Amino acid sequence: MNDFIHAIPKAELHIHIEGTLEPELMFELAVKNGIALPFKSIDDARQAYNFSDLQSFLDIYYQGADVLINEDDFYQLTWSYLQKAAAQNVRHTEIFFDPQTHTARGVKFETVAQGIHRALKDAGQKLNLSSKLIMCFLRHLNAAEAMDTLEAALPFQKLIAAVGLDSSELGNPPEKFMAVFDRARKKGFKVVAHAGEEGPPDYIWQALNLLKAERIDHGVRCLEDTALVEHLVKTQIPLTVCPLSNVKLRVFDDMKQHNLKRMLDLGLCVTVNSDDPAYFGGYIEENFQALQTALKLDHQDIFKLARNAFQASFLSLTEKEKHLDELEQFVYGFGEQ
Ligand code: HPA
Ligand code: ZN
Repeated sequence: MNDFIHAIPKAELHIHIEGTLEPELMFELAVKNGIALPFKSIDDARQAYNFSDLQSFLDIYYQGADVLINEDDFYQLTWSYLQKAAAQNVRHTEIFFDPQTHTARGVKFETVAQGIHRALKDAGQKLNLSSKLIMCFLRHLNAAEAMDTLEAALPFQKLIAAVGLDSSELGNPPEKFMAVFDRARKKGFKVVAHAGEEGPPDYIWQALNLLKAERIDHGVRCLEDTALVEHLVKTQIPLTVCPLSNVKLRVFDDMKQHNLKRMLDLGLCVTVNSDDPAYFGGYIEENFQALQTALKLDHQDIFKLARNAFQASFLSLTEKEKHLDELEQFVYGFGEQ
């Protein structure tokens, strides 16, 4: 089963590039850029990655991102992630970035976007790994700041496929960002939003009805609302679930309590993703493995999850077909062994 999980072609749709900053690179960049870190050592940093909820994680995550200053830093961060993803047979990835975390420290939007983009382009050429970029607004900041960020992004629009919404969910409902998402849609951006991670099912409804989200990030709390589940099954709006994240941030007490298998069996379009792998203890393959062991997923479940991810991506129909063909051939070939 572990070989199957490793080798199956995968797409990853919920990954924050700042959340892939491993302590080793964090320390290297801190020294290079002369930034003081709140950790004494790499081990000390890993020890501190013990969270009680989303906010306790975000506080540490934003501190870590302070070491990212130059375009090359963003390149190196992204390239390190892409190499790991390719080694786990990820064929396509849709990456979040949080421009406000950087522009607030005086780093230019362009520095962030170009550094990430250059690595994505190299991965397309050297790693057989395609990608899209999703710009997230920080929901703990106000709507006017999100609108300013959207304006700053417009000159780089050809690098960015979609907009999203992340950071502290409770108390920051999607409705706060209706105007900025309206404008983003009019400009041609696709739309996703984090909802129903810690927030109630109503936040998922708002993301769908008010922001017109085409995908919901996390969404695990949807099971508390039968009408919502029915709607999500009917529309096949994808839910990008992040199992290790959910356990680390105590959305579920342990992996055995995770509701992903129930979601899958209800016919929801769920996918498996790593969210912030440097902080949560694993990349996409480790997420699949932890889930499979705890929930006793079978080969069909894994196949379905991998298939959902390609279908839920923002790739063109032709590109999706190509990946789905590869996936089917892989599964067929694996059965023959
Ligand atoms: N939720 C909200 N904001 C985030 C997350 C998350 O899981 N990861 C990084 N920013
Ligand atoms: Zn996330």
